[in-house]
Amino acid sequence: TIDVDTAATGPNIGDGMYGIFMEDINHAADGGLYAELVQNRSFEYSTADNADYTPMTSWEAVADGGADGNAEVVGDDGRLNERNRNYLRLALPADGGEYGVANTGYSTGIPVEEGAEYDFSVWAKAAGSGTTPLTVRLTDPQGAPLAAPLELEAGGREWAQYSGTLTADSSSTAGRLAVTGSGGGSLSLDMVSLFPRDTFKGRENGLRADIAEKIAGLDPGFVRFPGGCLVNTGSHEAYEAPDWPRERSFQWKDTVGPVEERAVNHNFWGYNQSYGLGYYEYFQFAEDLGAMPLPVVPALVTGCGENEATDDPELLERHVQDTLDLIEFANGPADSEWGGLRAEMGHPEPFGLTHVQVGNEENLPEEFFERFVEFRDAIEAEYPDITVVGNSGPASGGTVFERAWELNREHGVELVDEHYYNSPEWFLSNNERYDSYDREGPDVYLGEYASQGNRFSNALAEAAYMTGLERNADVVKMASYAPLLAAEWDAQWTPDMIWFDTTRSWGSANYEVQRLFARNTGDAVVPSTASGTPDASGPITGAVGLSTWNTSAEYDDVKVTSAGGETLLSDDFSGGADRWEHITDAGSWAVEDGAYVQTETAGENTMVMAGDPGWTDYDMEVTATKREG
Ligand code: AHR
Repeated sequence: TIDVDTAATGPNIGDGMYGIFMEDINHAADGGLYAELVQNRSFEYSTADNADYTPMTSWEAVADGGADGNAEVVGDDGRLNERNRNYLRLALPADGGEYGVANTGYSTGIPVEEGAEYDFSVWAKAAGSGTTPLTVRLTDPQGAPLAAPLELEAGGREWAQYSGTLTADSSSTAGRLAVTGSGGGSLSLDMVSLFPRDTFKGRENGLRADIAEKIAGLDPGFVRFPGGCLVNTGSHEAYEAPDWPRERSFQWKDTVGPVEERAVNHNFWGYNQSYGLGYYEYFQFAEDLGAMPLPVVPALVTGCGENEATDDPELLERHVQDTLDLIEFANGPADSEWGGLRAEMGHPEPFGLTHVQVGNEENLPEEFFERFVEFRDAIEAEYPDITVVGNSGPASGGTVFERAWELNREHGVELVDEHYYNSPEWFLSNNERYDSYDREGPDVYLGEYASQGNRFSNALAEAAYMTGLERNADVVKMASYAPLLAAEWDAQWTPDMIWFDTTRSWGSANYEVQRLFARNTGDAVVPSTASGTPDASGPITGAVGLSTWNTSAEYDDVKVTSAGGETLLSDDFSGGADRWEHITDAGSWAVEDGAYVQTETAGENTMVMAGDPGWTDYDMEVTATKREG
């Protein structure tokens, strides 16, 4: 029984209470939300991004009929521009054959759907003054066509962009994009790009529709971006262009303007960041979602495992100026310098920026606040209506960083970003956290939190906790679960709210909770009491478990089958066990040599696979084969 005191009023809950935190972790942007299908489109991958990378990562040579040619990545003065350091030089066969390269995309390959259109573009230049025939093909891994080829003519010694559309006549999740030339001589290529025509809201340089729709399904009140640790870290140090290195971190000016003129960067999470999804695209996405944009700028004090404050007044001045320029980019008139760039990019109207966050998880509070006030003073002097959001130190299990909070209070910070990740039990037993927070301020923005799992019980613990956030809506003004997105094929951080592979995306149980709360936010809290014990029995769907394994053994052929014998999912573990999670503490497990190996045997063990689309109505059976011996 729930008794509601309709006569009394609790705090109001803002419409923008629940939002999203979007950071390019787990390939959330490159390989995920950013719809570009070509991986390493400008041949900039390097060991500075990832020890396994080369400038030819995700590219392979293609020779028609054994034609003799050569493909080499060069970084000389003939480059496309100073920010786009490398390009590909092809030596073409003169004997009539074709030679070139094919891109293998992300994970399984380039996803191609029968009947769908794909927009291709490339920058090219030839060595001679004549034209060079350029053929673009979508093929399967064996070279069989998935679309009619696109025939282009690249001409002249100067770089020029060539484009066209490919229409798929069959489907594949392992497509290749091949670009070949013929007729001898040399042909240079850069920014080889392929986008599905069908992006979210049909935007150019746009977002993958299925993932963006899932995010839109959350009806977010705000979009915090671009990090996270990406704001504290990163490095241009591998590149030596005249205006680089701009030292470290995700800096907005590197990410705007024509995509071929944007920088690339080492991504803290171990891959290359193309900056194709840059500040303009983030602002546009927030606008398309009807959400408030909340950019986070670097504060020159590192976090995310490093303790360093940059003591360089000129650099600090430049970052402060960059932040003022960012506000002009978002809100300035089309005839201002940075507002003009926004207009040139296609958005003459202002984006209506109201909040800017300075710094993420700064773990040197004194040093951070010295810099924070410089940012805030400069912003308030020029833009008194902008709210400058602070932060309360590194992500924690929920520990309150007293010194950071003291300084936030001392400096009259309006809104403070807090982060914590902990067990479901912690969330269940800390529902009262905000009951005792100071009503005199600062207000809280719970910018990152999660109960360390994608199981139903995690989602339930988060839902329970969120009732505590709402009860304290006079102090807690905004909240966002983190991380938002994860590629099933390369996740650096789990759990995550929305998962995807090359063609599909699916929300976790945690996603459903976020959606439930965000789409049904009340106007105000009404005091209530509950009595009686709810019936906790009943089926729980959305996860498939394999349990009570209490002997030391190895298992192959783990399969989920429907009652009718249809294989819903089989995982031979060859690609890793990232879809399965070991959820009991009783033993430990690993995947070795394509098999599930249980290495300790202290009682019951359970493996769970998170729910997948289309499973809920099945009567399922999970089987595994025990290895001989
Ligand atoms: O959400 C993942 C990371 O957690 C963020 O990058 C960082 O802010 C936090 O430590």
